[in-house]
Amino acid sequence: MKYFHKPVFLAEVLEHLIYDINGIYIDTTFGSGGHARGILKKISNKGKLIAFDQDQFSILKNKICDKRIIFFNANFRNIKQILKDYNKQVLKNVSGIMADLGVSSYQIDTPQRGFSIRFNNILDMRMDLSKNKSALNIIKTYSFENLNNIFYKYGEFKNPKRISRKILLNRKFINTTFDLVKLFKNNIKFLSRLFQALRIEVNDEINALKKLLKQSINLLKPGGILAIISYHSLEDRLVKNFFKSGNIHGIIRSDNKGNNLSQFKKRFTKRICHDKKEISKNNRATSAILRITQKI
Ligand SMILES: C[S@@+](CC[C@H](N)C(=O)[O-])C[C@H]1O[C@@H](n2cnc3c(N)ncnc32)[C@H](O)[C@@H]1O
Repeated sequence: MKYFHKPVFLAEVLEHLIYDINGIYIDTTFGSGGHARGILKKISNKGKLIAFDQDQFSILKNKICDKRIIFFNANFRNIKQILKDYNKQVLKNVSGIMADLGVSSYQIDTPQRGFSIRFNNILDMRMDLSKNKSALNIIKTYSFENLNNIFYKYGEFKNPKRISRKILLNRKFINTTFDLVKLFKNNIKFLSRLFQALRIEVNDEINALKKLLKQSINLLKPGGILAIISYHSLEDRLVKNFFKSGNIHGIIRSDNKGNNLSQFKKRFTKRICHDKKEISKNNRATSAILRITQKI
């Protein structure tokens, strides 16, 4: 059965992303194909859509039969090499790239995937099921320092040591999502951040995003659009600074006249956040931030 994920900011993404109906577009996070279907509706018969998703099931279950779309069941962190191998002419010739980061409703709502605090299952959280590292591996094997590091960096906990210590003392007994929920007996906000930290580490999400942003410069043609939807401040900060500076360190470089050397047009950056109408239609939109920029 197909699983439909309600696309977040669909109208806004389509409005800004598709400026040339004959262009090549990339959806780096195909998911259930909500945005991809919208893009296909808008582009012409000559247009092309390249879709990536690292989750084997996402493409298997939601594949769209349309000669204009090509699928890569792959991590977007390797996007440039994959496209180079596919067709070198794509490089520097892409009209628009989009990413709708994080997990899909399908992944969250499938108990066996172990992403959700709502279902009891083995702590898995892998988006790419061919990888070895799961959340359970982290719980069972990470050192105190490494646990502190991920809870501090990815969960934004001010005092991660308390959490790491509790996990180390109880790691023998932790196997499932509910084991972790029961161990901390805490509120949803705390647990969501704990699960988020583990998920980001399992899927190396921040490094993958950095690689995507960096490579986007070499894929987009001048005037090309980059649209990113983030769901937490770590991702959004990275995207915002990259859009401002044109590099993943967020360092603004200027020429001797003081002009920003970023390859992106800052004035085109948009932030659409907490749209009440969208949130009432779609829960996932609560924390979503869409930023759009244009390559000079
Ligand atoms: C929020 S969902 C996208 C939903 C999609 N826009 C839709 O409308 O159905 C995110 C998807 O991106 C995929 N994903 C996340 N990080 C990825 C990465 N580094 N490379 C490839 N796919 C990734 C996930 O597996 C998931 O299916």
